[in-house]
Amino acid sequence: MAETIRVLVPEKDVDKKICEIGEQISRDYEGKEIHLICVLKGGVFFMCELAKRITVPVSMDFMSVSSYGADTKSSGVVKIVKDLDEPLEGKDVLIVEDIIDSGRTLYHLIELLQKRNPASIRLCTLLDKPERRVKQVNVDYVCFSIPDEFVVGYGLDYAQKYRNLPYVGVVEGAE
Ligand code: IMP
Ligand code: MG
Repeated sequence: MAETIRVLVPEKDVDKKICEIGEQISRDYEGKEIHLICVLKGGVFFMCELAKRITVPVSMDFMSVSSYGADTKSSGVVKIVKDLDEPLEGKDVLIVEDIIDSGRTLYHLIELLQKRNPASIRLCTLLDKPERRVKQVNVDYVCFSIPDEFVVGYGLDYAQKYRNLPYVGVVEGAE
């Protein structure tokens, strides 16, 4: 069977929700500046769209992490593949992610970034799969809570494909 994509969240729903979350973030951060941190590669489409909807001043930085897997030693579960360019000292940081699944990546990433003394750290995600949570993370802004299905599009990939889909879908008929 050929691989097909079933639409889970249509493009217009994603766009509308990002506008709403952008407005909410703009209200919550009134009078402040936001330092957006994009977790590559999946967070990039969401961060670009979200940033356009935020009306307070923003700066942006990018980071890439890889997962060591479930059980690891002292260094934690995430390894920095590409670190941030800028220090976080005194900044109001908003981490922008594509999806929170087990929560492991973000749990360890937040722990690591806290050590850099930002004024605050909040977390914003396009998608959340709450059923899959292993590590508790406080997610401040969620666009869509979804069931436990493997999704692609809007930055999310399956074997590096489908990131460019303008909607969120489920891969069907994959080997
Ligand atoms: P966590 O550490 O288990 O929360 O994993 C988060 C990362 O796993 C995400 O940033 C994604 O890169 C990847 N991931 C989890 N679920 C999916 C999915 O349904 N589709 C594509 N990537 C996913
Ligand atoms: Mg990700």
